[in-house]
Amino acid sequence: MNVLLTGGMGYIGSHVAVVLLQAGHRVILYDNLCNSEASVLARIEQITGKTPTFIQADIRATKTLTDALKQHAVEAVMHFAGLKAVGESVEKPIEYYANNVEGTVSLLEAMRETGVRSLVFSGSATVYGEPQYLPLDEAHPLSATNPYGRTKLHIEEMLRDLSVSNPLWRIVCLRYFNPVGAHESGLIGENPVGIPNNLMPYIARVAAGELKELSVFGNDYPTPDGTGVRDYIHVMDLAEGHVAALAWLAEHPGWYAINLGTGQGYSVLDMVATFVRACGRDLPYRIVPRRAGDVAACYADPGKALRELGWRARRDLLEMCASAWKFQNRTGTGLLGSDCEGRLS
Ligand code: NAD
Ligand code: WQD
Repeated sequence: MNVLLTGGMGYIGSHVAVVLLQAGHRVILYDNLCNSEASVLARIEQITGKTPTFIQADIRATKTLTDALKQHAVEAVMHFAGLKAVGESVEKPIEYYANNVEGTVSLLEAMRETGVRSLVFSGSATVYGEPQYLPLDEAHPLSATNPYGRTKLHIEEMLRDLSVSNPLWRIVCLRYFNPVGAHESGLIGENPVGIPNNLMPYIARVAAGELKELSVFGNDYPTPDGTGVRDYIHVMDLAEGHVAALAWLAEHPGWYAINLGTGQGYSVLDMVATFVRACGRDLPYRIVPRRAGDVAACYADPGKALRELGWRARRDLLEMCASAWKFQNRTGTGLLGSDCEGRLS
């Protein structure tokens, strides 16, 4: 199949590109590189031995997108392009609505124009808001607690409206839990600019000696060790879920939401301990007050993905940490030779 990946040079899109290419699909990466690097293309080639097409452009350039869909005879779109930093979205809501919501409208116009009707959307478990029960299934009430989450919710609703308007559309919103880790080669992974907001890349940089210590945001939650619990999912499992969803969509017109998670929650301290095992170094951390907006625990009921897609996550927390560490070592800033100071305590 010819598949166009908006945001395909980013963290998740690049891993999905690898799995799609290896499954024999033709891949067109469409990305403005606002949060990724051109070098990702060569790395995808190195892993797969195949060369995807790359178009450097914005999804809001509807004409360019329409031309790309036509020129490459695209049959399905996977839509990863978007801004994703929760804190930044509070400071810059207009940028988030313009990029995420307006960008998606532009994509849908281009798809309508060219008759491309199959869409896999990067949804997020953030649309469940504060969990009312756990594990979170797809029937859990939806809400959003920040502008980023609201863009994800608006897009889901927009996509549902679209499928009602025309039964030819095939749309699946994959609600990711906490994607972490990297391809086993260590060639592609998550490489945020500046100081990471998310736990795993922060830990990796502490282990590498690039950051001094991890701040653990609160140890007084009602969880087994008091620190926040999340459903971390290996990015390669997530990528395989996309390929399963693409095949499934061929038989399923309409609109669907499906969780992609493991169903297993791990705490911040579980993650620290497992990363220490993976990297063989101490990992200094300090308990600090809770981060505003964080919930105690969040994990998926992944049953629907298994029933519908025949997919489930297979890789464990150690593989997630080991692959993130390998990627860190390949892309680090040269500080990797030095040992970490401090102790795991
Ligand atoms: P990422 O920032 O690594 O990748 C997004 C890519 O989209 C980047 O390469 C960026 O350059 C590109 N992009 C952004 N705006 C664009 C635009 N207007 N036109 C063209 N390209 C544009 O992020 P990611 O972690 O790979 O996330 C991919 C998607 O998954 C996002 O929609 C995100 O909201 C969603 N998601 C991510 C997570 C997570 O924790 N990483 C969790 C849930 C959902
Ligand atoms: C995980 C745990 C923190 C950093 C975010 C978005 C969500 C989704 C995924 C896109 C929490 C703790 C973290 C640190 C810490 N993205 N932590 N010290 O908050 O679950 O989800 O990314 O859709 O929308 O909100 O992920 O990795 O930031 O935090 O103690 O330096 O680690 O408190 O318990 P989160 P995270």
